[in-house]
Amino acid sequence: MGYETIRVEKRGKVGLITLDRPKALNALNAQLISELSAALDSFETDDRIGCIVLTGSEKAFAAGADIKEMQPFDYPKSYMSDLITPWERVSTNRKPIIAAVAGYALGGGCELAMMCDFILAADTAKFGQPEITLGTMPGSGGTQRLTRFVGKSKAMEMCLTGRMMDAQEAERSGLVSRVVPADDLLEEAMKAAEKIADFSLPVVMMTKESVNRAYETTLAEGIRFERRLFHATFGTEDQSEGMTAFIEKRAPQFRNK
Ligand code: HXC
Repeated sequence: MGYETIRVEKRGKVGLITLDRPKALNALNAQLISELSAALDSFETDDRIGCIVLTGSEKAFAAGADIKEMQPFDYPKSYMSDLITPWERVSTNRKPIIAAVAGYALGGGCELAMMCDFILAADTAKFGQPEITLGTMPGSGGTQRLTRFVGKSKAMEMCLTGRMMDAQEAERSGLVSRVVPADDLLEEAMKAAEKIADFSLPVVMMTKESVNRAYETTLAEGIRFERRLFHATFGTEDQSEGMTAFIEKRAPQFRNK
């Protein structure tokens, strides 16, 4: 499929998606979200892909939803067109997605990064929810996910004032997993993705599902859910191979079964 707003590559077992609307700082318009969904669908159903990296440019991961596209909307139009709902495809993808963020991740851009499974940040990254400055509010999970990641006080301050946080603050507050020099961002993200893609894919997917359950349920239910999946890993050839390889002091050869 030919894409106009993203670039899509397969690098071994890793699917790499680069947001590519440089003139608009990767502002997320309907076409981009639709193309991103299609690319994610194709990676999800591709048995050879074990992990996905989503990135932007040096200057911007994404400067938000496309303000020029949204500006003429009224309430019926935003409701009837189900504005934003198509974005959920990112958070429902069953394979791991790493957000590699350099530069601005604002509004919908910050929300898009938070829909991924973890965020690796360049030291140039800046995160923020500036929707309040436009007379609106976060609409793609910002008030919910940011609050879970960084706690109420910081999330409230960011959403109410539109203040941006830099990469160091984002790491300190738990929004990003790691900060790396900007020049190394893609390489570090690819290294992490390749590592994940070499593990057992079903077990990787179960692990993702189980961590995500922590955001949706009580501790007791989450622990029970985890136990069921843990037991299920013993139904895979890869668990047998992984433990046998450890005992035989050799590297495991996972077959993703
Ligand atoms: C549409 C955008 C855009 C956006 C930047 N551009 N952000 N276009 N939607 N979100 C465009 C600008 O209009 C400009 O194009 C070009 O990108 C370069 O931007 P500049 O402002 O000239 O760059 P700079 O001075 O470096 O400032 C960078 C910036 C600023 C601080 C990131 O662009 C900015 O504040 N952008 C808006 C950030 C924002 O408010 N995001 C939240 C959006 S609402 P032209 O052709 O005009 O020169 C949102 C709602 C989410 O995300 C709700 C659910 C998804």
